[in-house]
Amino acid sequence: MNPPKKKKTVAACQALLIIDGADRVSKVDPIRWPASRPDPAILPTRPSRRTEPMGARTRPAGRGSSPFVGRDPEVAELVAGLADALAGRGELFLIAGEPGIGKTRLVEQVEARALERGARVAWGRCWEGGGAPAYWPWTQVVRALAAPTAASRARATTGPGPMVPPLPGVQGEGPAAAAGPAGPEDRLSSATDRFRLFAEVAAFLEQAAAAGPLVVVLDDLHAADPASLLLLRFIAGSLRTVPLLVVATYREVEAQRRPEVVEALADLVRDGRTLHLRGLDRDEVRRLVEGLSGTTSSDEQVADLVRATGGNPLFIREVVHLRMAVPPGGAPARTVPQGVRAVIHQRLAALEAGTVRVLSVGAVVGQEFDRLLVEQAAGLDAIAVGEALAQAERSDLVGRVPGSERRCRFTHGLVR
Ligand SMILES: Nc1ncnc2c1ncn2[C@@H]1O[C@H](COP(=O)(O)OP(=O)(O)O)[C@@H](O)[C@H]1O
Ligand SMILES: [Mg+2]
Repeated sequence: MNPPKKKKTVAACQALLIIDGADRVSKVDPIRWPASRPDPAILPTRPSRRTEPMGARTRPAGRGSSPFVGRDPEVAELVAGLADALAGRGELFLIAGEPGIGKTRLVEQVEARALERGARVAWGRCWEGGGAPAYWPWTQVVRALAAPTAASRARATTGPGPMVPPLPGVQGEGPAAAAGPAGPEDRLSSATDRFRLFAEVAAFLEQAAAAGPLVVVLDDLHAADPASLLLLRFIAGSLRTVPLLVVATYREVEAQRRPEVVEALADLVRDGRTLHLRGLDRDEVRRLVEGLSGTTSSDEQVADLVRATGGNPLFIREVVHLRMAVPPGGAPARTVPQGVRAVIHQRLAALEAGTVRVLSVGAVVGQEFDRLLVEQAAGLDAIAVGEALAQAERSDLVGRVPGSERRCRFTHGLVR
């Protein structure tokens, strides 16, 4: 990729950080409390203005009025896991899928159920922009759980709460007070110190959960630092007897690119259950579009949208908004919406130059293309095209046409 193009892609990736879940970012706090259950006052420590409103939160933030469709089996599995956790048998769930497919939104659905049932929910979001301190997602979780609420301060009668583990930044005032960036220079470099810290975090969570069932969400685990992944492995191994549900989301393709994430996931899948999110089906797409636009859609329009978006709710939302912006009688928009563009750019940025070239040639041919034709048009040999297509397939950008050796198809019309 040439430098200006790379610069553009980086800009697109930065845009993605805002776009992916943008409808929540500003509103989401790391912990939410159930409406009906008063704060169990696990940790009466220094008051924090920033955390005060969380105690008053009665419903998950960020869902707005946009309808939630589909995902019945996944919601059912997660709610069953939640019931187990409430009964004292903790569990780990891993939710995997491409950007925009609805991982975070699914967790928010479960969060709502958890709050209704009197559990507390603490979020740790992994930071993809680089420079986050080691343990950043856990720091957010522990900070949120350690923060006193208005109710606990008003009572001020409880004894000492569980020991807050000395994660970087937990006792301080934010990331600036934390240790340096995540990496091999991790402050707690000795294995013994690390083990002690892990045991302290596990004990802290156990005590917090003893005061009331707990849901810990680790969002975008593919971007977690190695120490956080190791800590999750440690925690996951001892969930069975704790009323604690841990839900972690990750993007499969990004996860595959980081060996430490691959290794952690290989271990975590043994301790937990994995839910792979795929595109919404036709009926669900119809309901989503109709919910977003407030108008009915023809079968043809729905089929078009399924073809273009692969059932990705983020893509659908963006396309619907773009179409709604067209004045009555105006020509339908031909451009790819900005949010979709950013997601696609990010996915293409990770590919080898040869793969992008093969996809570009394929895109000229059409939604479906013949690999032989692409070989000839791109001037590449069969091996090079085979490798490129294999990479594109691993990245979920193209798939084989069933029953054909040579034909491939773009998974989303928008990618093309
Ligand atoms: N099942 C769903 N029904 C309706 N909207 C959804 C659904 N899943 C996701 N969305 C919407 O699609 C967008 C992307 O979802 P999000 O959960 O942020 O994706 P991910 O976390 O997988 O990147 C959000 O606007 C979200 O509200
Ligand atoms: Mg997300």
